[in-house]
Amino acid sequence: MASKVSKAITIGDLRELARRRTPEFVFVPVETGGDDGNGPARNADGFHKYHLSAHALVDCSTVKLDATVFGRTYSRPFGISAVGFAGIMRRHAEQMLAEAAVEANIPFMLSSSSCASIEEIARIAPKHVWQQLYAARDSRITDDMLRRARDAGVEVLAFTVDAPAPMYNHWLVRAGLKLPAYVPPAKWPYVIWQALRHPRWTWEHASRGGLPRADSWAPYAPAGASANDVARLSWSQTPTFHEWPEVERLRRLWPGKLLIKGIVRPDDAARALDLGADAVIVSNHGGNKLDCMPAAIDILPGIAAHVGHRAPLLFDGGIRRGSNILVAHGLGANFSMVARATLYGVMAGGTEGALRAIEILSSEIKRDLAMIGCPDIARMDATYIHGSARHIDLPRRREPAVEKIDKIAVS
Ligand SMILES: Cc1cc2nc3c(=O)[nH]c(=O)nc-3n(C[C@H](O)[C@H](O)[C@H](O)COP(=O)(O)O)c2cc1C
Repeated sequence: MASKVSKAITIGDLRELARRRTPEFVFVPVETGGDDGNGPARNADGFHKYHLSAHALVDCSTVKLDATVFGRTYSRPFGISAVGFAGIMRRHAEQMLAEAAVEANIPFMLSSSSCASIEEIARIAPKHVWQQLYAARDSRITDDMLRRARDAGVEVLAFTVDAPAPMYNHWLVRAGLKLPAYVPPAKWPYVIWQALRHPRWTWEHASRGGLPRADSWAPYAPAGASANDVARLSWSQTPTFHEWPEVERLRRLWPGKLLIKGIVRPDDAARALDLGADAVIVSNHGGNKLDCMPAAIDILPGIAAHVGHRAPLLFDGGIRRGSNILVAHGLGANFSMVARATLYGVMAGGTEGALRAIEILSSEIKRDLAMIGCPDIARMDATYIHGSARHIDLPRRREPAVEKIDKIAVS
């Protein structure tokens, strides 16, 4: 019998399957961001004002999706972004996402607040894992995380700079829960009611003795520390405030590629590159941190115009369809990242669900590229964006395809 995820035809279908399988107190925090929780929806809605334009009569009988970043060629122009404590959302979600990344040949960015350790994920996905980093209050912890990532063979480090203060989400504050560390006694009836309504989620945790421990942080806790203790330790260390010298420090310490994740201003993008970063990720943390920020896609063109000629530009925020990735690349991104799209997939159906999410996005990208007369994602640029958005002053790719320029000249 076909599985439920195999019948999903959109990321929205996977989201609905994930919602049904997961208690509300886990699902709502995935969906919402800071304050009223409108940021993620604003990111997704932001794509609605951009439309694609099609070049007619172009042979797209074969369409290329592969993209080369940081010396590796991936089979799709997007990767899986970091999700902290994903193992709570589905047991072993990080391992499953890593397996899916290997099978689909895309990168998987492991959160430094992950339930799985970097050593384990690097064993599963040695050539596909990127390490995300929240720099800790105690720099010895940061340094050790870097050492572990390096020793595990990780080549790409993404330093997240857009989350200096704790998130304040109204729903979560009202709920009074802080998983895995804290459930006030008054909330137990609600938690038990939700747990009983979602037996598969409950069983996968209950059968293993409770919610998972953050193994990324376990080495810094006393031996035998519980999941609660380790989570509290990580929250006592992150988020915290750092300044630009931390980028210089990490640049000195990290021998591989260094990405700065969570850049929303052209001047910050330039500064990160001046300090030796190899790339920036234009991102507002999926709209999670601050409710009153523009949609991430609206931020991208300004940054692309300022630094797009200097380094690869990565983008994330609100991607739920393949056409969103085409818009992002048309507005200057070289590579996209998704978090919720593949998270819904893994929550709904484990590794198979994550692969289904990747497949849905990939087939949408392929179909849409053919529709707009663009046979190669690497050629996607502002000429494929309809209307005023295409006139944004975007730098050309550093190595423009000669063929493409000819085509545009005669169009
Ligand atoms: C539940 C959840 C947890 C996240 N945890 C992290 C994290 O630990 N580190 C990080 O840099 N970004 C984290 N992010 C942000 C994502 O990596 C990514 O920037 C963003 O969610 C992309 O937007 P999208 O979810 O609309 O695709 C998280 C996002 C979500 C939804």
